[in-house]
Amino acid sequence: MTLRECLSYGRETLASSNIEYPSLESELLLRQTLIISRVQLYLDFDLELSHEQGETFWGLVKRRLEGEPTAYISGHREFYGLDFYINPSVLIPRPETELLVEKTINLAKGCILPVIADIGTGCGAIAISLALKLPRAKIYATDISASALEVARANCLKHGLTSRVSLLQGNMLEPLPRPVDFIVSNLPYVKEEEISDDNFEPVLALNGGGDGLEPIRRLCHQVGGKLRPGGYLLLEIGQGQQAAVTSLLSSLFPLAEIEVTPDLSGIDRMVSAVLSPISEA
Ligand SMILES: C[S@@+](CC[C@H](N)C(=O)[O-])C[C@H]1O[C@@H](n2cnc3c(N)ncnc32)[C@H](O)[C@@H]1O
Repeated sequence: MTLRECLSYGRETLASSNIEYPSLESELLLRQTLIISRVQLYLDFDLELSHEQGETFWGLVKRRLEGEPTAYISGHREFYGLDFYINPSVLIPRPETELLVEKTINLAKGCILPVIADIGTGCGAIAISLALKLPRAKIYATDISASALEVARANCLKHGLTSRVSLLQGNMLEPLPRPVDFIVSNLPYVKEEEISDDNFEPVLALNGGGDGLEPIRRLCHQVGGKLRPGGYLLLEIGQGQQAAVTSLLSSLFPLAEIEVTPDLSGIDRMVSAVLSPISEA
């Protein structure tokens, strides 16, 4: 079977099981089988696969049909135009989280030496995207999960950022060695009862407790003293959480200016707050 035929059979098989992007996923699985780039795949379209390569490809398609996300099968995910190494210890970064990155870049690009903390960094997607776009920034990236931090470490190495991104293990803001200018965070915000058993992603990365807001609440209570006066807090939130999060922030920081930003689907996805230049801690 040629690469072209394989790609097409893969696409049809995935489509018949209602996989959302069958062409793209068939291509990613074939590239993973052969360890080749997209360009190489299209240049070698008429090459024949060996029997072993064919077996490997169908093995990957089978894993996908059993529900395993392609990012875990391929070990890669693109975020903010960058390639990240991914494994089941970390959440697969979502496109909507790019909003948090975009907003932070816009706010921080005028700062001389911004100090930024990415809390619950997972694979490091937010921290690394910020570090690459903000070359003068110092970044702290924290996570409670040691195995997630191993993935973030591999991604820092891959992107040449080991000296500018410090990885710290610990609970929320506790590991930060000094107050920062920006706290950016995509914490777990799924209600515990909504997390299904056949989910492949780490529960620690999803579980927001009974109402989905427990981790965000804990972080907000730690902000005083860890964010400089005039500093920014930027949080990704789940659908319908904006009222609870803005009211919590205005009760903790009555002088803060708070803004809610929707994602491309029109869902309120980010709450950002600029603290008063006078310390509210
Ligand atoms: C929703 S995932 C986000 C991962 C990554 N920032 C992203 O946007 O793709 C949440 C992350 O928070 C981490 N986490 C959960 N509880 C935490 C806590 N108490 N302190 C620090 N990190 C925590 C999880 O291990 C997970 O990596």
